[in-house]
Amino acid sequence: MNTADLPVSKLPKDFLWGFATASFQIEGSTDVDGRAKSIWDDFSKQPGKTQDGRNGDIATDSYRLWKDDIALLVKYGVKSYRFSISWPRIIPLGGRNDPINPKGIEWYSNFIDALLDNGIIPFVTLYHWDLPQALHERYKGWLNKDEIVQDYVRYARVCFEAFGGRVKHWLTMNEPWCISVLGYGRGIHAPGRSSDRHRSPEGDSSTEPWIVGHNVILSHANAVKLYREEFKETQGGQIGITLNGDWAMPYDNSPKNIAAAQQAMDAALGWFADPIYLGRYPTFLKKMLGDRLPDFTPEELRVIKGSSDFYGMNTYTTNLCKAGGDDELQAKVIYTFTRPDGTQLGTQAHCGWLQDYPDGFRALLNYVWKRYRMPIYVTENGFAVKNENSKPMKEALLDHDRVQYFRGTTNALLSAVVEDGVDIRAYFPWSFVDNFEWADGYVTRFGVTYVDYETQARHPKESAKFLVKVYFPVILLC
Ligand code: NOJ
Repeated sequence: MNTADLPVSKLPKDFLWGFATASFQIEGSTDVDGRAKSIWDDFSKQPGKTQDGRNGDIATDSYRLWKDDIALLVKYGVKSYRFSISWPRIIPLGGRNDPINPKGIEWYSNFIDALLDNGIIPFVTLYHWDLPQALHERYKGWLNKDEIVQDYVRYARVCFEAFGGRVKHWLTMNEPWCISVLGYGRGIHAPGRSSDRHRSPEGDSSTEPWIVGHNVILSHANAVKLYREEFKETQGGQIGITLNGDWAMPYDNSPKNIAAAQQAMDAALGWFADPIYLGRYPTFLKKMLGDRLPDFTPEELRVIKGSSDFYGMNTYTTNLCKAGGDDELQAKVIYTFTRPDGTQLGTQAHCGWLQDYPDGFRALLNYVWKRYRMPIYVTENGFAVKNENSKPMKEALLDHDRVQYFRGTTNALLSAVVEDGVDIRAYFPWSFVDNFEWADGYVTRFGVTYVDYETQARHPKESAKFLVKVYFPVILLC
């Protein structure tokens, strides 16, 4: 593969590329420098919550090894780095009247300075799932609109004040669908609420996910309002949200399966994108949920509509959609990777929900562009090679399926720009390093860099070399 295989692109000059991570997945050092617990600390230590029984106490030790991480980013030559700030490091108890932790501020401040000194643009997520445990205990966290919106906005304010002079790219929330459905519907992510009594002693999967989603949207929108009113003029940055959503493809050409695919899009991606970019919840969602879907007041809607400067996209796969399911958390749609002729959509990843299908990525980019007309920042995209964790390191470094995946998705991205005219301004493969993959523990590896968890040594995989040597230079040429 050489650069000649890639289409000539018309990417904007300030196109951002680099890798992505999140605080709880890499930092470790969970009890130092005044950090208090997040909802993931205890959750991941309960028996059965992670596949390998391991937790985030050490992770990739990046809180201590941050200088090494930056040195590797420099070696990779990235233009930008997407990472998240840990709320319980900044305000350990989380609330608007709780004290700020100067050591937490200092750590991120040094980190941001070091990135900038090395010419790397910080791309910062404010919330990547590590809610201060104290807020969950005090008032049930995201379930409590009156409290959480104010506490989140105050946390955002502290970050804008401390870092906004240097950070010009903000993401308020990472993947509200996962926060809501996995944390409060299926109960497989912290805080682990679900109606399934085997999973969780408390929770109501028929109402809580949509209450949480609603409150996440309001918190996001109010933080953006604050930024625009008090910081944007002086700091001059951009702020938005990043949503997960995979391409939903009809299983076949039957009208019912075409409708099922649209339902899937509405209920996963439209749930958040429609209010934020169009000012209303999707009709399908309202019909399915009735008054279990909370309403926004007209005043709230004025804050929400238009509350993102761009469309932040996290996407990994494509699902074939069939009508006929009864699971509301899945939009009453049956998902499969097997086509009507019995063939698979693409190469299977380690996790059951992911197959490699680059045409779906291109279709999704076009769908989002046509529907919302916002510049797109691809803030996550990646692949977990099957059984990578059980291979000797030398073999794991030859991650051909991941190279194949990125070859497909990067070509799809460039084609979407050049041939389809989609406005794409950033691409951040997930992830910079192998890390704590939530309920999968360390069993599933998404990194382009192999982490030897015994020594914490980092080793670039073939996929890092592919992106760094083949793909990223193409961007530079464009
Ligand atoms: C999305 C999440 O933002 C990230 O935390 C996770 O590790 C990847 N997807 C892979 O599942």
